[in-house]
This record gives sequence, C-alpha cells and structure tokens, in this order.
Amino acid sequence: MSSQPTRILLGITGSIAAYKTPELVRAFIKAGCEVKVVITPSANDFVSELSLATVSKNEVLGNIHNEGQWNNHVELGMWAHAFIVAPASANTIAKMAQGICDNLLLACFLSARCKVMIAPAMDLDMYHHAATQNNLNTLRQRGVITIGPASGELASGLIGDGRMEEPSTIVNEVLRSLHVSNSLKNKQVVITAGPTREAIDPVRFISNHSTGKMGVALAEEALQRGANVKLIIGKGALGYTNPNMEISCVDTAEEMLNASLSSFEKADIFIMSAAVADYTPEHVATQKIKKKEDDMSISLKRTPDILATLGSKKKNQLLVGFALETNNELEYAKNKLEKKNLDMIVLNSLQDAGAGFATDTNKISILDNEGNELHFELKTKKMVAIDILNHAEKIMIKNIN
Ligand code: CTP
Repeated sequence: MSSQPTRILLGITGSIAAYKTPELVRAFIKAGCEVKVVITPSANDFVSELSLATVSKNEVLGNIHNEGQWNNHVELGMWAHAFIVAPASANTIAKMAQGICDNLLLACFLSARCKVMIAPAMDLDMYHHAATQNNLNTLRQRGVITIGPASGELASGLIGDGRMEEPSTIVNEVLRSLHVSNSLKNKQVVITAGPTREAIDPVRFISNHSTGKMGVALAEEALQRGANVKLIIGKGALGYTNPNMEISCVDTAEEMLNASLSSFEKADIFIMSAAVADYTPEHVATQKIKKKEDDMSISLKRTPDILATLGSKKKNQLLVGFALETNNELEYAKNKLEKKNLDMIVLNSLQDAGAGFATDTNKISILDNEGNELHFELKTKKMVAIDILNHAEKIMIKNIN
C-alpha cells in the first residue's frame, strides 16, 4: 500500500457495543487512517451521529438517499481499503450472509471490492445459535474476516462469548490483515489443541481444563498467513468450526497420536498445543461403575507421549511443543525441548495471572534449540499466536539458509 492514509469505511449496526465506536474511530485516526462512517437505522439508538461525525471529521451516512441526494454506495466501496462492520449484530450478519440489501450499510457490503471484516457483538446464546454460526461460516467462506468476539460480561448480565473486541484490538487486527504477508503460503501447518479424555466407564473420564483457545488462535493465525491448516482438536474443547481449515476431532491420547502421526510426514510446521492426558485407566469398565461402601482406586497406565514420538520421527518438520509448569519453569521447559527433540518450546506458567487454561490471554516465554530465550508480556491469545508463528518462521528461514 502507498504512503497515503489507509481508508477505512466503518459500518455500525444496532448493538449496545456501538457506544464504543467513537473511540474506535479515534483509534483508527490515531493510527493514521481516514475514516468514513455508515450506520444502520437501529445504530442510531446506541450512538449519536453527531459524535461520529465530529471524531471522523466526515458526514455520517445512514440512508441510501439524503435530502434528495443519492449516497453512492459503489463509490464508498471503491474508496475504502477496508470495510469494517463493528459492532456487527446478529441481524446484519444474517442479512450479509443472505445478500439482503435494505439499507446503505448492506449496499456498501454488496458492492465492496476491498477487504471486509466484521466484529460480531451480541448476547452469548445469539452468538452460539446454529443460525448465527452458519451465517458466520458462510461469510468466512466468502473471504470475510471475523474479529472476535471476546468473552466476558455482556449487557444482558450473562457472561460468555459475544463482547465486541476492544477498539485497539480491532484497529491492530485490521491494519495487520491489510499488510499481512503470505509468509506461510503453500506450507502445511498442523496444530493440536484442547484436552484429551480418557474413559473410566461409559459415563466418566479423566481430562483437564484446556479449552483449545490457544491452539485455535494459532490455527487462525497460520490461516491468515496463507498456510494450509489442519487442526486436531480434543472433543472436550469448545466446539469450533472453520470451513477454511481441515479439522479432526479426537477424544483420547491414543486417537490424537494416530491423527498426529498420519499428518506429520506432510507437515512443515507441527505445533503441539494440546493438553494430553499422561495416564489412562488400565481397564475401561463396559458398564457404569456402581458405588460401594468402600473407597476405590483406579489403576492407571501411561499414554503415549505424542510429542516425543513425533520428535523421534522428525525429518524436515519444525516441531513446536508447549510446557505448562507451576515451578522451576525454565529448567523443566529446557529439559522438554531437548528430550522431545523440539525446535522450540512455548512455556506458560500457571503462576502468571491471566495465563493458562480458558482465559483469552496468555503470558509466554519461547525457548529454542539455539539457546535463545524470549520473554513476552501478557497478551491476548491472538497476539501470542503471532509471536509464536513469527519465531517459528524465523527458525524456518534460518534452517533454509
Ligand atoms: N505431550 C504429548 N503427549 C503427552 C503429554 C504431553 O504430546 N502424553 C506434549 C504436550 O502437548 C506439550 C508437551 O508435550 O506440547 C509438554 O507437555 P506437559 O504436560 O507440559 O509435560 P509432560 O511432557 O506431560 O511432562 P510433565 O507432566 O511431567 O510436566
């Protein structure tokens, strides 16, 4: 892109998160962008046109025609380097997926030739509804990039997925994806994520708190860099679908091993972020175990160490492991790096607030087999995924030269 300012067309829909959009406009302008705003009629209920016109220094457009004048949506679509719909309500997402065109924002969407990104914002049940998820998948399949939503307290008082991403995150994501390289084009990236589950009987299993968020963030980042991505994800993780990557759902450590082995040969980068059970019951009861008066114990046997198995078969693959530690973190991580024959290991410590399972953030260190040690701040898992893949790419380039 040339040195002229990045031109952002911001579409605002009727969601409570619209109250954050003057801040979003400001953040784009602070980042050197020029911003024009188009709003749906119901966005007017949540944010004032006057505020948006003042911060964007441009007239806010809401109707296909204004006082006898036609607002040219084709021109707006051509003017913009990126069209961002934030917040994107369930209603507008559905209309975008269907190609409905009953307001100026939707007309802009249908005529936009630039990158289109949406930041969904709605209540968690609306977000997880199969209809909304189908609409989001349809849009993703057509190249629309989704930013968020984040998880947290919602306007309804419920807690979960559905919050619009913070304005600073949206600006970072938009600018990054406009300047994104195809650095992993034609590369095969395989990522394992989430927990494994080891059955005790037909109704019980041994597992852990992993939700797969870090692995999903890595898979999405690799996809953005142009890679062919395969995600091997534990069934115990949050349901995740993405039509642009191959997803294999597995349950036990044994199943994850088999899925990993069958994808390993063709992988250029293999990232093992799954939380694999180290032990599995020696015998799985075929019927539900009934309680007795006495205490009981279950005899456990070791599961295969997937990463060590891959490490012993490694040829040209760049192999990345994770280490979750509570003490002697660096020492344990270094041991794992060497013992499992890895190129790099990502360490997260449960001692760090905001790091670890089920959070949207993580604080990591990266250790590689050349003795480099990098320590990072607490960041969103999306940003952590960028740091991890940046370092993996650095090693890959060094290995080629
Ligand atoms: N791992 C694996 N197979 C296992 C256990 C772990 O592939 N059966 C992988 C994890 O996905 C991670 C790395 O090995 O990438 C380190 O996992 P971690 O649980 O931190 O360590 P362990 O090797 O299990 O050792 P310990 O439990 O003693 O810390």
